[in-house]
Amino acid sequence: MPEKTKQPKGFGPSTLGVHGRARVAHAHFAVSTPIVQTSNFYFENTSEVYEFMKAKKEGRTIREHEYGRYGNPTQQECERKLAAIEGAERAVLFSTGMSAVILTLMAYMRPNGHIIFTSDCYRQTRDFATKTLARFGIEVSMVDPAAEAIEKAIRPNTHIIFTESPTNPYLRVLDLPAIAEVARRHKAMTIIDATLATPYNIKPLEAGIDIVVHSATKYLGGHNDLLAGVALGRHDLLDDLYRMQRMVGAVPGPFTCFLLERGLKTFGLRMEQHNRAGMAVARMLEAHPKVEKVWYPGLASHPDHAVAREQMTGFGSLITFLVRGGDRETRKFIDSLRLFLITPSLGGSESLVTQMSMMSFFDYPEEYRLNIGIVDNLVRIALGLEDVEDLIADLGQALDAI
Ligand SMILES: Cc1ncc(COP(=O)(O)O)c(C=O)c1O
Repeated sequence: MPEKTKQPKGFGPSTLGVHGRARVAHAHFAVSTPIVQTSNFYFENTSEVYEFMKAKKEGRTIREHEYGRYGNPTQQECERKLAAIEGAERAVLFSTGMSAVILTLMAYMRPNGHIIFTSDCYRQTRDFATKTLARFGIEVSMVDPAAEAIEKAIRPNTHIIFTESPTNPYLRVLDLPAIAEVARRHKAMTIIDATLATPYNIKPLEAGIDIVVHSATKYLGGHNDLLAGVALGRHDLLDDLYRMQRMVGAVPGPFTCFLLERGLKTFGLRMEQHNRAGMAVARMLEAHPKVEKVWYPGLASHPDHAVAREQMTGFGSLITFLVRGGDRETRKFIDSLRLFLITPSLGGSESLVTQMSMMSFFDYPEEYRLNIGIVDNLVRIALGLEDVEDLIADLGQALDAI
């Protein structure tokens, strides 16, 4: 559906989450987005089919939808709002964050090419980089999450720089304009997985990054009740990715798109709360005698605090820390928590906790796991939307119980 009225630029993230850049017409004048639960869209007669196909061939649009894998009105409304919040020309939705990550890489990778990743990154992205890409003859470097290390790793065939910011789990924050500049000089494409920051806290496209990817399962969906992913960027650049989306069809269903779009209406409010809670809990943990070390970009002790302060609006509600002691003390702490659910993920309404060595990295050989910093007393918490005082009290009593 085309946007009916042009609004001035500059709406805030909450307004964009509710309306997008402008109002669009909904079927039956429904205020909320209708769930168009269909796999295909019919034509009245063969002339309609002919006119539709002819227009498509000539690059014109006379009606939007034909087949569910190629697009759906509920999905389209969700993509429109995600693009508005990110400040992107276009959004392409996927069924999960990982399908967004992998299909974006697959759409732009080249035979005999070289892709730079950072050593601290989401486990499945690391596995795709180190285990799968090599099988396709693509060279991979895993480097320190810093612009200088990325530049040092550039080779004549480097064509993609892929990083997270902040990274998972150590929350390293990258200097995005510096990375965009390195990429420009070496004619490489930049892709940032900004799941942990969200478009509320950083704007990679404004920093000159080519494509932003998010797991929308996290803060964008916001309620621990859906899986989705999204890639955003310039219209022309995303044509190849859109073709990949149409071909592979790893798209979320209409109900998931409805839930995600519904979540966007409270995105700004939720992020304010996540940022506030993150800062308060990080400070409390850092001051607690049973905590050895805390990684949170909002703390002056974080290695990238200066970059984070410059580039981020807030620092989110994911906090990584070391419990004083080993495996036994860490498990005692986690088992004593009353409000935190033991499960991976982040960005939803319920607070979550994971012992990283046990949950995400259990099957890695111990030496490799320790080498990438996943020690037994490493804990990651993802704060939900509970009252901050209750979360602080719960963490305090569980630490005291060790
Ligand atoms: C930074 C990051 N990227 C991608 C993903 C994958 O997202 P999904 O679980 O939606 O596939 C995650 C999941 O935790 C993540 O933390």
